[in-house]
Amino acid sequence: MRAMICRAWGAPDELRLEEIAPPEPAADQILIKVTASCVNYADTIMIKGHYQSRPDFPFAPGLEACGEVLRCGAATTRFKPGDRVMALLGHGGFAEQAIALESDCFAVPDDMDDDTAATFMIGYISSHVAIRWQAKLEPGETLLVLGAAGGVGLTAVEIGKALGATVIAGASSTEKLEIARQHGADQLINYKSTSLKKSVAELTDGKGANVCYDPVGGDLFDEALSSLAWGGRILVIGFVGGIPKIPANRLLVKNRSAMGSSLRYYREHRPDQLRASVEELIAWWRDGKLKPLISQRFSLENVPAAMAELLERRAVGRIVIAMA
Ligand SMILES: NC(=O)c1ccc[n+]([C@@H]2O[C@H](COP(=O)([O-])OP(=O)(O)OC[C@H]3O[C@@H](n4cnc5c(N)ncnc54)[C@H](OP(=O)(O)O)[C@@H]3O)[C@@H](O)[C@H]2O)c1
Repeated sequence: MRAMICRAWGAPDELRLEEIAPPEPAADQILIKVTASCVNYADTIMIKGHYQSRPDFPFAPGLEACGEVLRCGAATTRFKPGDRVMALLGHGGFAEQAIALESDCFAVPDDMDDDTAATFMIGYISSHVAIRWQAKLEPGETLLVLGAAGGVGLTAVEIGKALGATVIAGASSTEKLEIARQHGADQLINYKSTSLKKSVAELTDGKGANVCYDPVGGDLFDEALSSLAWGGRILVIGFVGGIPKIPANRLLVKNRSAMGSSLRYYREHRPDQLRASVEELIAWWRDGKLKPLISQRFSLENVPAAMAELLERRAVGRIVIAMA
């Protein structure tokens, strides 16, 4: 099979398209013929060797995919060859075949196309578990989303609206904010040209946001923390702008909380909540509350160019890698 292979920690343009033997599924795994996969910022961190997991070389990156079941491990029970699945992967999505734990595979709804299914897992589930189970966002609360037109940010905007919150979207350009507005954001802040803290205060009559969803971190984290209301919760999602330090005194004074939320925790420790998230997300998608945005499609040989879109801050919504 063809796969985009990483043989040393480095940049996207060091990846090479190679012909390799397909992986063998273990007893609790499923072998998938990949039809489409999706590029995540985390792929760029993994090939650098800075991600939570460091696969043995050589490996194909790619953390989620949609495809057809080719073979089922001896201990699996939920799928059979020919079934359409969407899956969370350890890695390996940028290849014509990939393996996933059966517990990380979900049936694709009949009316969902392959490209949409390839982008449906990480973005939506990560934001859902964070907002629903960690921050416990209530209807009527205000949700501030940073990087609101990005892969996970845009899903957070839609999930906030589906849960009945007022959503303030923050992004670095007018074009990105317009995309967040089209996906339901009530109010918009360009944090490149204005102060996030001042703008949130103005939009909330000085009260602040109840929850902030932050996949950016860096210098913006400090302003986001200051933008929280009494009892506010900041969801620590990612660090594309750098890893911030959290000043504990500023949590205390307004009874605020900083909450880490990792999809990996739910995969390994709360599979029940993960399944509940997928069920609710599919129901919302059927009701038209979620409108996955696929902004670009690349072929397998062009995975490095697709990753560069994210690293150079041009990407909006999701970028699909189409195998055909
Ligand atoms: N905790 C979890 O379970 C979980 C799950 C999935 C992803 N994540 C993390 O979430 C983060 C975002 O992932 P993603 O796949 O959504 O990425 P993405 O599509 O590239 O979105 C990231 C957004 O961050 C903003 N940004 C600010 N500074 C940036 C910079 N220097 N370079 C690139 N973007 C920058 C951009 O928006 P503006 O230009 O508008 O600022 C961009 O839209 C990553 O750190 C990822 O590892 C965490």
